[in-house]
Amino acid sequence: MKTLPTLYRNATLCTLAGDDWGLIEHGALFSRDGRIAWLGPEAQLPIALAREVQAEHVLQGALLTPALIDCHTHLVYGGQRANEFELRLEGASYAEIARAGGGILSTVSATRAADEAQLLDAAGRRLRNWLGEGVGTLEIKSGYGLTLADEARCLRVARRLQERTGLSIRATFLGAHSLPPEFAGRADDYVNALCAWLRELHAQGLVDAVNAFCESIAFSPAQVRRVFTAARQLGLPVKLHAEQLSDQGGAALAAEFSALSCDHLEHLGEAGIAAMRAAGTVAVLLPGAYYFLRETRLPPVAALRAAGVPIAVSTDHNPGTSPGSSLLLTINMACTLFRLTPLEAVRGVTVNAARALGLPDRGQLAPGLRADLAVWQLDHPRELAYWFGHRPCSRLIVAGQELS
Ligand code: NIG
Ligand code: FE
Repeated sequence: MKTLPTLYRNATLCTLAGDDWGLIEHGALFSRDGRIAWLGPEAQLPIALAREVQAEHVLQGALLTPALIDCHTHLVYGGQRANEFELRLEGASYAEIARAGGGILSTVSATRAADEAQLLDAAGRRLRNWLGEGVGTLEIKSGYGLTLADEARCLRVARRLQERTGLSIRATFLGAHSLPPEFAGRADDYVNALCAWLRELHAQGLVDAVNAFCESIAFSPAQVRRVFTAARQLGLPVKLHAEQLSDQGGAALAAEFSALSCDHLEHLGEAGIAAMRAAGTVAVLLPGAYYFLRETRLPPVAALRAAGVPIAVSTDHNPGTSPGSSLLLTINMACTLFRLTPLEAVRGVTVNAARALGLPDRGQLAPGLRADLAVWQLDHPRELAYWFGHRPCSRLIVAGQELS
């Protein structure tokens, strides 16, 4: 979409373009056609660009960052699972509830029972929380339909949410989330079926990436390999829910397929870290799920850092393990629970989150990148990881369009 040549003036820019915050005081940013055309100290704005300006926003010293990116959510689903929260507080484990037919499968029932308008309405209402927190790109996984028609419905909702809100939404097929009841005892047949669905959904233009849940209560590495092989045949990138409850060797398998990311990783070992590093796979940490499941095993943050594996941070919003809808609270948790530095946590929802989605055109402020911007009533970007329960975002711009 065409946008006016626009100048944002008198801002503190946080470019995140190098290894540091990349702060530019008294900065200006010029965007045209939805892209950043120039940025720098305002006093150095080239005269030719100043003449082109058709819209101007004086930000009065506010902080201007790349719009945030939530690279792992399950936003589209029916119902809720507060009953399981109670059961877990009484001592039941997530895996026990899943084995007893609750867990993901209870959300599958509620999702199948909802029509497309209901799913769209519920997810659209949730999404307002992300809009209010300066999030410009959001990934949404399917995985609560588990039939071709129900998965298609959820992925269509993801597509429609982009049209409805203007946010940039990436849709990920997660047919390999849980074994649906109609395939009980026939997991390999289900994997065959979901690979066929993937081809169909891809043909309908509904899939940007493919994900799987590699776990003893979900799919084995051999089954995930078949799903990833089908993805590779279609040229689709893969991501994995890996080593969340146990070390299945999922990260190494995903790295073999040059996975964009491996997510969760509380039980990740040295071999998985080395494989991820060699493949350039991003480690997506999900402190909301760690917190909500009252997990005690920490992901190996120091080892990931030492190996130079890029670290992203995401809400993992879903009704079972992470019902929170605040990316800002999540980065605060990444610092308090996982000991990320505020800079690492903010890079985790910008530059490294972009990488986890295979989107090199965003997550930083630099000429040529998308004009996906957030304006904050803050003095310093470290405050993004500091306040929680606050809404300091005053404007959100996606591809040059003002959304809030
Ligand atoms: O990321 N681990 C698998 N999937 C979700 C949980 C889904 C659910 O419990 O509904 C997660 O934690
Ligand atoms: Fe998840």
